[in-house]
Amino acid sequence: MELARRRVPRMFFDYVDSGAYTEATYRANEADLAAIKLRQRVGRKLSDRSLHSTMVSQPVAMPVALAPTGIAGMQHADGEILAAQAAEEFGVPFTLSTMSVCSIEDVAAHCTKPFWFQLYVMRDRGFVDALIQRAMQAKCSALMVTLDLQVVGQRHKDLRNGLSTPPRLGLSSVLQLAMRPLWCAQMLATRRHRLGNLVGHAKGADDLTSMSAWVADQFDLEFNWEDLAWIRHRWPGKLILKGIMDADDARIAASTGADAIIVSNHGGRQLDGAASTISKLPSIVEAVGDRVEVHMDGGIRSGQDVFRAIALGARGTYIGRPFLYGLGAIGKAGVGLALDIIVNELDTTMALCGERHISEIGPHNLETK
Ligand SMILES: Cc1cc2nc3c(=O)[nH]c(=O)nc-3n(C[C@H](O)[C@H](O)[C@H](O)COP(=O)(O)O)c2cc1C
Repeated sequence: MELARRRVPRMFFDYVDSGAYTEATYRANEADLAAIKLRQRVGRKLSDRSLHSTMVSQPVAMPVALAPTGIAGMQHADGEILAAQAAEEFGVPFTLSTMSVCSIEDVAAHCTKPFWFQLYVMRDRGFVDALIQRAMQAKCSALMVTLDLQVVGQRHKDLRNGLSTPPRLGLSSVLQLAMRPLWCAQMLATRRHRLGNLVGHAKGADDLTSMSAWVADQFDLEFNWEDLAWIRHRWPGKLILKGIMDADDARIAASTGADAIIVSNHGGRQLDGAASTISKLPSIVEAVGDRVEVHMDGGIRSGQDVFRAIALGARGTYIGRPFLYGLGAIGKAGVGLALDIIVNELDTTMALCGERHISEIGPHNLETK
């Protein structure tokens, strides 16, 4: 994180390291995970351990995927391609955001295995339909629909840095860029600077200002559960619904034909004051765990955190900021390093809790309060 802070211009570093309004939910995600105590066991065979598992029936080297994150290509030149390649080499899924810098086709051209695509449902359904088709053509192996961003939670740092709609990039932004010459040199060496999935596809969205206006105008206040039937009809593959924080919503989500839901509050970037994701996980697993896979993200910073989420019933987890900091710090190798750190911690944690396989982890591995 510290290296990313030194390498990435402040406005883009802050874009990652921020939550909505008071950032209480952003902090709670991490704090509530850290507060869960693990149960140490001894005298058990620890040979032949395996972290392999599946997420939506796809094999994963560990139950951790890279979460969709907008403009990852601003943390590092060609960021989405580099992160997708690192995930592919490691054996975990990479999820490309609708708001990525590198387009679906561009990422597909630079990877050998399928990745996942995250969809924001915009008002222009023709655009959404085309995006789904493009994801299909690029052989994406899961579609993830984000449900918690019909209105946008305000992040104070973004406003201060001019990352608003429209962007207000003044003298201070120029200075921020000037203080990061390596980042600038790498950015000058790539042609990927805009929202790649929009360029040439969204009407009238060509430069940064018009794109940002288009996006702001496109969040669909009319969107509701009924629209999911429209999506399910168009996407026959694995479908994941992201942003579920309530058992009642989870029950509705489970009845849409989705294969998985993600307990997520957008990393504390939307509803400030919402509960942490880990605190909501058990009730949601209890409500729908036998009908759909329940995944979780928000605040996962270590293999111990992955272990805690799995113990409380998550089939899979996602990391957002941890891989973005790695990416911002040293590019593809940084994403690989973030994954390496987590896998080693997860393996050690599992062993010291006396387990040898992901499927054996459960509530019995946690201290009761
Ligand atoms: C910089 C940033 C950009 C994000 N952009 C998106 C996005 O485009 N689509 C989406 O569904 N979620 C987005 N998210 C939310 C992440 O997918 C994920 O829910 C969150 O980062 C998980 O929390 P963590 O960062 O604490 O791991 C973004 C998160 C961050 C930090």
